[in-house]
Amino acid sequence: MDKIVINGGRPLYGSIGISGMKNSALPILFGTILAADKCVIENLPPIKDVTGALQILKEMGAEVKMLDDTTVEIDTSHIVCGSAPYEMARNMRGSYYIAGAELGRFGRSKVALPGGCDFGSRPIDQHLKGFEALGARSNIDNGYLVLETDNALHGDSVYLDVVSVGATINIILAAVLAEGNTVIDNAAKEPHIVDLANFLNACGANISGAGTNVIHIKGVSHLSGVTYAIIPDMIEAGTYMVAAAAAGGNVTVTNVIPKHLESITAKLVEMGVDVIENDDSIVVARSGPLSKVNVKTMPYPGFPTDMNPQMCVLLCLAEGTSTLKEGVWESRFRYTKELACFGAEIQVDQRIAIVEGKGQLTGAEVKAVDLRAGAAMVIAGLAASGTTVVGDIHHIERGYEKIVEKLRAVGADISKITVGDDDSTALVG
Ligand code: EPU
Repeated sequence: MDKIVINGGRPLYGSIGISGMKNSALPILFGTILAADKCVIENLPPIKDVTGALQILKEMGAEVKMLDDTTVEIDTSHIVCGSAPYEMARNMRGSYYIAGAELGRFGRSKVALPGGCDFGSRPIDQHLKGFEALGARSNIDNGYLVLETDNALHGDSVYLDVVSVGATINIILAAVLAEGNTVIDNAAKEPHIVDLANFLNACGANISGAGTNVIHIKGVSHLSGVTYAIIPDMIEAGTYMVAAAAAGGNVTVTNVIPKHLESITAKLVEMGVDVIENDDSIVVARSGPLSKVNVKTMPYPGFPTDMNPQMCVLLCLAEGTSTLKEGVWESRFRYTKELACFGAEIQVDQRIAIVEGKGQLTGAEVKAVDLRAGAAMVIAGLAASGTTVVGDIHHIERGYEKIVEKLRAVGADISKITVGDDDSTALVG
């Protein structure tokens, strides 16, 4: 069992390079199914969710060859529809993009209902609404989502009742090869939707309006393979920006698109942190106290829900009472019980957390309850006095490449240890 150990209270100095975006990588990797050809995907983040997605593609019959740590060549010509292994698909939320991609290419699909982080119920009704508008029938059979069509898929208008990243992506995947025009109204506007659309357009698709709330897709008869580089991960970047603000010091976060980080930058500045935006890097520096602030998470371009736990740590370190409202997930605050172990005072009422900032935290033994919550525990450990031990770090490794190495390079006293069955421990990185 691996754990992360941090001796906190040290400011961070130096630079951290940001990897490719997890939430772009998964739809683009599964989107290669539609190309039925050889694609080269660059700037892939080497994280567990990506390894898992590549493994699923291999099991489905794709030829997958790593050209280097962050570049993969995938040939999906001979993929077999419905062959994604049940357990592998269940272990990953992003596996539901197989449904849209298989439906688009084969007119049918069979894939396990997805897993992922536990934020309460995670319905897929909007995905199904989109698939059905395009002419598919759906049913749940023994834990599988099964999609079928009698005739070819045809374009149609879909109005999403909730702004859903996953449904927007899945409907795009299903519609690019459908006959006629599809319009997705009230679509999500996240940068990874634009990234997926750019990838598919490079393959020959005809998608316009990605990044706005109305997306138009003109169906094309086929796609072909391309070489495509994934955009930088705004949530990984935001996580290190908040880490620098929490621990203090001066950190340059490189390989970023500053525009994607505006909501995070704005909150840090409001709290008294110095933030300088360059073309493709951001400098975050803090020496003085943090001011209280109110935050509400929303779909892009609002403050990202995937920065909720990390931001909560910063509010605990501020002086005064802040509020943090969750506007996307019904139960994202499970991590606050873990933060309480650091001495944080947080009261949660459904989707609102009232945080009594005390300007400091003390090290604790905690666990990562999900991916972003795990990142928040690491940030709390960096800022807290004394030693912090974070368990269940497999959640963190799903989404952060080399988090220990990246933080150590800016001066953090952080290591990963393996705790054996016999309680013996070994340093592993
Ligand atoms: N929703 C519905 N019906 C649907 C789909 C969604 O009611 O059919 C609701 C959800 O319950 C939620 C809201 O709509 O309240 C938004 O969900 P969305 O579909 O946008 O989320 P997702 O696609 O399942 C992706 C990311 C999450 C991120 C959210 C929001 C992936 C694999 N996951 O999830 O990322 O929190 O968008 O930005 O892309 C993470 O990376 O840590 C993570 C959890």
